Amino acid sequence: MLKIGLLGFGFMGVTHYRIYQHLPGAEVVGIFDLEPGKVGRGEGVAGNIGDAEEQLDLSGVKITGNADELIEAKDIDIIDVCLPTFVHADFAVKALEAGKHVFCEKPMALTPSECDMMIDARDESGKKLMIGHCIRFWPEYVYASRVIKEKKHGEVISAFFRRLSPTPSWSYESWILQEEKSGGALLDLHIHDIDYIYSVFGNITEVSSSGVQNVVSPDSGVGYVLTKYQTGSPALVTAEGGWHFHEGFPFNMSFHIRCEEGTLLFDAGQEKTLAVCTPDGKTHYPAMPGTTGWDEELKYFVECVKDNKRVDASPPEESKTAVETALMEHESLQINSSVRSL
Ligand SMILES: NC(=O)c1ccc[n+]([C@@H]2O[C@H](COP(=O)([O-])OP(=O)(O)OC[C@H]3O[C@@H](n4cnc5c(N)ncnc54)[C@H](O)[C@@H]3O)[C@@H](O)[C@H]2O)c1
Repeated sequence: MLKIGLLGFGFMGVTHYRIYQHLPGAEVVGIFDLEPGKVGRGEGVAGNIGDAEEQLDLSGVKITGNADELIEAKDIDIIDVCLPTFVHADFAVKALEAGKHVFCEKPMALTPSECDMMIDARDESGKKLMIGHCIRFWPEYVYASRVIKEKKHGEVISAFFRRLSPTPSWSYESWILQEEKSGGALLDLHIHDIDYIYSVFGNITEVSSSGVQNVVSPDSGVGYVLTKYQTGSPALVTAEGGWHFHEGFPFNMSFHIRCEEGTLLFDAGQEKTLAVCTPDGKTHYPAMPGTTGWDEELKYFVECVKDNKRVDASPPEESKTAVETALMEHESLQINSSVRSL
């Protein structure tokens, strides 16, 4: 049984905890939070997807306000970092240096050099590191990846990805609304689609972005972005991401992918989330497994650790590329011109 120390018990920490409760071969033995007294009471815990306030059974779990107690604990195998982005690198490096495997929430960090520190610490420790790019594991996106890679409906002509939400209100002391701590909507929300686009279409060589900044508050940074990507594929690839919408705006996670012989249409808000429209005028709705990308990514990481397998399905080097691409989009938006990768 792999023993897990969970750092951060906000929206994502609670989400991970609930998954580990049902995940064979892994158990959470300790939780760190800056407010240990609140852990398990569900206060201030919310997010875009799922009901994080559901009652939790925390019996037998050590709750602490000192992360070192978990990072240095001899009986802990994996440290799961569900902390604000600006402290990802610090805690992940410390845990790797202490000989722990590390699962860290996305985005990997705020800068490529912080990402390098995490990759170096992984290499020096010989332990595993994975970043929570859950969209690569989300059933409808997994289905689309397979259709594209196998050319089931021919080549892709165009692909569009959308991720929109009301302004996040739940984060600890509103860290998420300060661009210097979260990277704004670009690094926090839209990066999901950046990483997915990279995983399907390969290297992103140029981005052309437009967007709006500092509408939520003076230091909230990019709140909305619209980007066109140049990749190795001739397909027109675009994405839209943003969280500058008012409360009540429904969370939207969707895509449409037009291939030569069929169109894939996904909308997480629909009852039948995925539709495939074919040239004969028919639409069919592939059955999707009742799971989420969060369940599947944690299951995958636990298997990698248990079986000593490389983290090939979402290597940290590619998570760093997603950070770099988000920063290219940031620059493109500032200079109002396209930006090429180095
Ligand atoms: N994969 C996804 O779909 C997804 C969704 C939401 C958030 N996230 C990511 O998960 C991470 C956590 O986000 P969240 O929404 O759970 O945040 P949150 O604010 O709800 O929770 C963060 C927790 O970290 C602790 N914390 C805050 N500041 C700290 C500091 N300076 N040092 C140490 N601990 C600190 C607090 O105790 C808090 O409970 C972020 O990186 C975010 O981008 C991922």
